[in-house]
Amino acid sequence: MKEQLDIIISDLQASMGRDAPESANASESERSVGKPGYAIIGTGMMGREHIRAVLQLKQARIVGIFDEDPVSIRRALREFSQSGHQEPAVYSDLEALTNDERVDGILICTPNFTHRQVFDAVKHTKKPIFLEKPMATTLEDAIYLAEASLSYPSSILLGMQYRYKSQYQLALNAINKGDVGSVKMISLCEYRPAFLPKVKEWNKFAVYSGGTLVEKCCHYFDLMNRIAASLPARVFASGGRAVNFKDFSYEGRASDIDDHALVIVEYENRVRAQFTLNMFSEELYEGLTVSGDRGTLRAEEQASFKPGRESSSKITVEVPGHAAYDGFDCTFPEAIESGGHYGSTLFEHVRFANRVRGQQSDGASCAEGLWAIITAWMAQESIRTSTVVDVRETLARLGIDPFGEGLIPDINQRHISDEANLS
Ligand SMILES: NC(=O)c1ccc[n+]([C@@H]2O[C@H](COP(=O)([O-])OP(=O)(O)OC[C@H]3O[C@@H](n4cnc5c(N)ncnc54)[C@H](O)[C@@H]3O)[C@@H](O)[C@H]2O)c1
Repeated sequence: MKEQLDIIISDLQASMGRDAPESANASESERSVGKPGYAIIGTGMMGREHIRAVLQLKQARIVGIFDEDPVSIRRALREFSQSGHQEPAVYSDLEALTNDERVDGILICTPNFTHRQVFDAVKHTKKPIFLEKPMATTLEDAIYLAEASLSYPSSILLGMQYRYKSQYQLALNAINKGDVGSVKMISLCEYRPAFLPKVKEWNKFAVYSGGTLVEKCCHYFDLMNRIAASLPARVFASGGRAVNFKDFSYEGRASDIDDHALVIVEYENRVRAQFTLNMFSEELYEGLTVSGDRGTLRAEEQASFKPGRESSSKITVEVPGHAAYDGFDCTFPEAIESGGHYGSTLFEHVRFANRVRGQQSDGASCAEGLWAIITAWMAQESIRTSTVVDVRETLARLGIDPFGEGLIPDINQRHISDEANLS
């Protein structure tokens, strides 16, 4: 495992500044020669994390930004001035952004409910797009975007970067290699503090965020779907609002988002999975346990929103003779770990830069984003109706067909067969 982690780290380090002229005396414009130009739409918390990641990696340059909010613009410009980088253009509207010929790739980092409309406004550029998660707030918009991605002439990479956290990269490698054998059970949990403040507080309202399980937890349903390597068949969930934002309102509207949930997912290939969310914890804890017919793997992360408290990751593979049987500390070195979402944002940018250069990369697809949202949406529907939700039946009732060509990720097609139907 140590060798694998070393390779993951050295590959990322090799990507950093790969195209930059060596001379320390080179001006910023000289250092920018040949690098793809990005435009960022939405420079709130996540847009600025992307700015820092791009500046740290030095694989691309940010040529322009657009945001409706002057405070977000000012904060974004500060990221450039504080790190000694040339400030990008500030576009007055999306038309100016799409007309800028220096733009080779577009990052959409606006709130969830705007993703479809922003995509529609920039799609005529036919340029590679990075779209933040969740790709949409409704099943209709998610399938619209997933279908649009199939005929879009460039790639669309989704911002589901948790799969690049250290412990999950190692866990996914180990599971794919068959270290725990044939997967039977998956257990995932996230304990964390409440949702953070956002511009116009969009994340306190299900109509703008898609609901807590879609907004926050699509990352975990993405991981769950990848590991189960099948499609969700039945979902049962219980959840609600116990502690957070019970008296919160914004512009006269009362917050309506859940702060905890327990979700059980049965997959078509009989893998059973569960997810626990708790958003009234002091610190962050994420845990993944995967049991197969050879043994059990645990991937864990401890972190904090409080300054000065370090994060750490660990993986344990309880298979006799396995190198990680007694647990292996897989925390990234500080320069990576501090690179946004415990380094994972840096890894997704390497993938996006490859896409913009016209190369292949294994980042999250719109089909994967669609199925993460479907799984999360079914859990929310189960909470709403207090029933077990049959995924295919519900989709048919809603007139949503996500089974067409290209809409089921390859990894989820592995074990689909008639005989695998749950009894
Ligand atoms: N991948 C992750 O781990 C991760 C983490 C946090 C947020 N996100 C996602 O990133 C996106 C942005 O979240 P955030 O935390 O930065 O929110 P935020 O509220 O901090 O920032 C959103 C920004 O978008 C701007 N905006 C809103 N509508 C716009 C429009 N139509 N055109 C241009 N600008 C517009 C707002 O003014 C604001 O500055 C969301 O989709 C969110 O789910 C992803």
